Amino acid sequence: MYLFKNIKLSDYKPDTDGWRQEVINGLQTPQKTLPVKLFYDEVGSQLFDEITELPEYYPTRVEQLILDENIAEIAAILGSNCLLIELGSGSSQKTRTLLDYLPQLAGFVPIDISKEHLLQSAADVAADYPHLEVLPVCADYETSFEIPAPVQPVSRRIVYYPGSTIGNFHPAEAVAFLRHIRTVCGDQCELLIGVDLKKDRGILHRAYNDAAGVTAVFNLNILTRLNREMGAEFDLETFAHRAFYNEAAGRIEMHLVSQCDQNVRVNGRVVPFAAGETVWTESSYKYSLPEFAALAAQAGFQVASVWTDDDQLFSLQYLTRTQQ
Ligand code: AVJ
Repeated sequence: MYLFKNIKLSDYKPDTDGWRQEVINGLQTPQKTLPVKLFYDEVGSQLFDEITELPEYYPTRVEQLILDENIAEIAAILGSNCLLIELGSGSSQKTRTLLDYLPQLAGFVPIDISKEHLLQSAADVAADYPHLEVLPVCADYETSFEIPAPVQPVSRRIVYYPGSTIGNFHPAEAVAFLRHIRTVCGDQCELLIGVDLKKDRGILHRAYNDAAGVTAVFNLNILTRLNREMGAEFDLETFAHRAFYNEAAGRIEMHLVSQCDQNVRVNGRVVPFAAGETVWTESSYKYSLPEFAALAAQAGFQVASVWTDDDQLFSLQYLTRTQQ
């Protein structure tokens, strides 16, 4: 623990280099894959912010709208003295909506793997909410860590997981992840989670194939990052963005498609690509409400409340622990 402008940081010193081995392994499997977290370097995080502003990319806008329209009810259900725990860096407008309306919060615990971003957003929140105890945790939230205790008594621990980030996990992994959170967070654990819904495939297709091409740049930026940080030699001109809805699996898949037969050097290895071969960079699962309820149940949670928009594009769900 150390102090930064009066903010107590719990630092688990997460391993931020493990992805290199994941890259090597992922490029050696028959269907090549790359880890999804690679997207979010400095440039990638900026590109993602641009994506959230695109007319075709509905999730961020609709989730904020759902929150705005239902915040009074959400605040009443959650009640006072909640400890709000956010998986991710915690400086978004959605977080601020919760901080503005949840009555007498016991504290705010942003959890992020990047210490720099975490401290910056924790300091920003602390400056804007002077009476709020901010207790950042620098950790990879997929590993084990402890939830810090604020000075105020805590009625319930609310884990906020917005953005349908849960959709990046394959369903069995999503169950395992929610179980992990349930274990880390303990008896008082409840979840406020954003879940993207199944819908017309045209809407889905456009959200991941925007006319301005920002999603394509976001996808290709992974290769730029590998070139810079792993001494890879990807020629970006020879890879193309592809995103499509895989209806049977209920997910958007993003790939990078090699435009020719080629060998690419990656960290001393040679990785062969056939023309048309892809590296799979992201899955974004879409759920029906019953499907997600079944997934949550497998992880020991029940859906206590669901809020959606009029077009049922997106959902915000409040999950409580089942007894088991
Ligand atoms: C917010 C990470 C779940 O899948 O919609 C946006 C990321 N990828 N466009 C999503 C993303 C391509 C996004 N997540």
